[in-house]
Amino acid sequence: MSHPSPDAGRDAATPVIRLQSVQKSFALPSGEVFDAVQSLSLEIQQGDVFGLIGKSGAGKSTLLRLINLLERPDSGQVLVGGRDLTTLSRRELRDTRQNIGMIFQQFNLLQNATVFDNVAFPLKIHGRHSKAEINARVRECLALVGLAEKIDTYPAQLSGGQKQRVAIARALAPRPQVLLCDEPTSALDSETTRSLLETLRDINQKIGVTIVIVTHELSVVEVLCRNVAILEKGRLVEQFAVEDAPKAERKTALGREIDELVRRRERDAREALAAGALGAAPSLNAKEPAYV
Ligand SMILES: Nc1ncnc2c1ncn2[C@@H]1O[C@H](COP(=O)(O)OP(=O)(O)O)[C@@H](O)[C@H]1O
Ligand SMILES: [Mg+2]
Repeated sequence: MSHPSPDAGRDAATPVIRLQSVQKSFALPSGEVFDAVQSLSLEIQQGDVFGLIGKSGAGKSTLLRLINLLERPDSGQVLVGGRDLTTLSRRELRDTRQNIGMIFQQFNLLQNATVFDNVAFPLKIHGRHSKAEINARVRECLALVGLAEKIDTYPAQLSGGQKQRVAIARALAPRPQVLLCDEPTSALDSETTRSLLETLRDINQKIGVTIVIVTHELSVVEVLCRNVAILEKGRLVEQFAVEDAPKAERKTALGREIDELVRRRERDAREALAAGALGAAPSLNAKEPAYV
């Protein structure tokens, strides 16, 4: 199966996603205009795991939906894999969207279709793949998310975590460069959240897909993200690499909270190591990461 996208975004030095002064307003029933995303520029590198955080209503979902043009910006450019999506015809946009998978908080699976048919769906609508290719790719993607044995079941027979894994397999089936995730763990309990985050991290490492994840859970950022951007009222107010010690005080309360979580984890790891060196079992001393 050939990849539908140009190779431009595969270069490590080239951002796979580049938003340039994107702006999105909504007309409210009152007649007022609400600026959900305001003149925002952002670059995300190929292979990154990038978090978008902020309070409810900050514009996170709108920003994520601008990346695959589910929302069309009022102005500005949206470049993915080197192509400006705002200039494409409908047909070109449909093809290019094969390069951008997406998963949602509520999974959005086809309830009347089996797991196989859900994952095969994006391959079938594209009409470019043989039956054998689809069969092989579906199995490959289900193996990637650890659900090979559920291939013939229906979504209703699956747990929330399993449904989200099917959604991930479906999103990855067309071999996208980018996987957009909108609050993917918000409907899941903490244990399931933890294992799903591990799966997302594995997938990023194994196949190098760039992950952009919207979340209000700071622990998700701490566990999964390499870089994070903080949104307030439709503006990007702060951006940093999660593991980097700050050179100056973070601008936002959320930024400071993320730092505290990272430092606490590092301190716990050091203490566990020291306890291990003294002969105690490290696992008894290492605090479990807190999932909110
Ligand atoms: N289609 C729409 N029509 C009107 N207002 C919208 C629409 N989509 C989002 N908004 C508004 O834009 C703001 C940002 O929404 P959203 O991007 O969903 O925020 P977040 O994901 O950070 O909670 C919210 O105040 C929301 O009510
Ligand atoms: Mg949202």
